[in-house]
Amino acid sequence: MRFPSVAVALALATALAAAGCSDEPGASARVASATPAATSTPTASVTPSVSATPTPTPTPSAKPTTTTPPKDTRAGKQLATPYEVDGIIVVSKKHRISAGYGPPDPTGPYHLESAAARALAKMTAAARADGVRIRVHSGYRSWTTQNASYQKALRNYPQNISFYAPAGASEHQTGLAVDLWDGVTWSLPMARTATGKWLFRHAHEYGFVLRYPDGKTRITGYHYEPWHYRYIGKRDAMKFPNNKLTLEEYLGLA
Ligand code: DAL
Ligand code: ZN
Repeated sequence: MRFPSVAVALALATALAAAGCSDEPGASARVASATPAATSTPTASVTPSVSATPTPTPTPSAKPTTTTPPKDTRAGKQLATPYEVDGIIVVSKKHRISAGYGPPDPTGPYHLESAAARALAKMTAAARADGVRIRVHSGYRSWTTQNASYQKALRNYPQNISFYAPAGASEHQTGLAVDLWDGVTWSLPMARTATGKWLFRHAHEYGFVLRYPDGKTRITGYHYEPWHYRYIGKRDAMKFPNNKLTLEEYLGLA
């Protein structure tokens, strides 16, 4: 979906400023200071600049070696266990988890699952060595936090609801997803920052995939989010080098 106008950009920046920030002290202040960047950025160029990022590798057609994914037949108490395909957890609008679920081995200030936290630390250090700053805007979010954020968005920013997961449908509840930025520029303009570009090019090398690529809303259920990276492990993430593939396509769920 294109980013249609300055008015929408403003509405979006405002909406996203209110989203998912509650678990990061001071985030809202930084978001507020980042808002003008959204207004001064020619909105028409936001999306094209992302696709203009050098992507030397061809579109992968790779899928896991196994064939048909299992049917998600979970119901009731079984929703306390996430749906998995080939050892990869899938949480989405179609594959939800119940309120009690959380990362089995949460680690660090953002309560990320330990493997994801370790990979993030490695990736952040590598970016720093390249002179690029990666900050966490949002890590783990509980079902309750997600529900509050979604309900608020429904009331206040219904036009932007495709940026928000209903409770039980957010990867943030698994501790395997992170929203990343440079600490200054949030919302879609984040894609054009050094941090956004570095992540776009390198995140897969550390096991993270851009979970909601541009133009894939019909498959993922969510709007393009240049900041939302999902840890799936390096072996699988290396099959996502140009950020065009969705997890759903990769796992045969699309
Ligand atoms: N913004 C993504 C869709 C989430 O809330 O999980
Ligand atoms: Zn996110």
